[in-house]
Amino acid sequence: MHELTPYVPGEQPKLNNLVKLNTNENPYGPSPKVLEALRAQTNDELRLYPDPNSDKLRQAIADYYGVAINQVFVGNGSDEVLAHVFQALLKQDAPLLFPDVTYSFYPVYCGLYGISYETIPLTDSFEISVDDYCRPNGGIIFPNPNAPTGRLLALSEIERLLKANPNSVVVIDEAYIDFGGESAIALVDKYPQLLVTHTLSKARSLAGLRVGYAVGHSDLIEALHRIKDSFNSYPLDRFAITGATAAVEDKAYFEETRAKVINTREHLIAELRAIGFEVLPSGANFIFARHPHHEGAELAARLRERSIIIRHFKKPARIAQFLRITIGTEEQCGLLASALREIVAEAA
Ligand SMILES: Cc1ncc(COP(=O)(O)O)c(C=O)c1O
Repeated sequence: MHELTPYVPGEQPKLNNLVKLNTNENPYGPSPKVLEALRAQTNDELRLYPDPNSDKLRQAIADYYGVAINQVFVGNGSDEVLAHVFQALLKQDAPLLFPDVTYSFYPVYCGLYGISYETIPLTDSFEISVDDYCRPNGGIIFPNPNAPTGRLLALSEIERLLKANPNSVVVIDEAYIDFGGESAIALVDKYPQLLVTHTLSKARSLAGLRVGYAVGHSDLIEALHRIKDSFNSYPLDRFAITGATAAVEDKAYFEETRAKVINTREHLIAELRAIGFEVLPSGANFIFARHPHHEGAELAARLRERSIIIRHFKKPARIAQFLRITIGTEEQCGLLASALREIVAEAA
């Protein structure tokens, strides 16, 4: 226990009136249908335990993607789903592979479950090169789009990875896929070693409800249920099941809000490039940007003085100059762009 290095989540400040662009939440509230369903759930049923397998939600997810209910697993946020995935599927003799710059919870789960791993450097343009993963391994995991870079890997490249790794579990963490990519869920019936994880925290605006899911071959899903039922039979409460089901079913609201986020992202990228930032192409609800003449830590501190918080990672060294900026509303992103314009101009 003393050797564990836990994950440090992004700050949830107690102050009001901040422009909070640090933890990739959605700036728009959840669907009104979700709120209505949650209100209706405030009733005497709460004295009863929830459905341990959340069948109503799993069926809604299965219908949404055109898969069977036994190909769907749900958990208390995708972090919990990922924790079970690491324990159930990624502890093998050979090391697990993931990128050197990626979601910083992966090495934490490896530490927790005693899983050996190797990190594979991203290319100079911060991309995942599939060729680097075509070698013996005990499993592969990465987010697509990757976090915190936002860079997207084409579905054809993921298929090439699967063809080259028929005997490894390949986990694609699609926390951000709805902001610009094509889901690898389309490939699960063809590749039994593929597991795709998702969250309702981002594109469905429900970070506070804590719901995530995985879709893959029924054998992989069964393994996850074994872990779940050896750990916590009721990871989703009645509110989570009800609210998440309403969110998955409200396609129109989802399409409307994600389109707004994507438009604002493209607008913000153009504004930041105009003031000299290098901004990586993003398929996510955040961007990753650096300025050739300004220290990342300094920019983050100057923004904070103006009540704007973004995320800055000191490590690894190759990303220390970058800022990871969550896409907020047009207004919030406008405030951020003006602040950065002033900070850059003051220093010139
Ligand atoms: C790549 C990635 N995967 C998974 C998660 C976890 O999301 P949640 O536990 O809210 O579903 C995050 C959260 O930021 C993430 O960035």
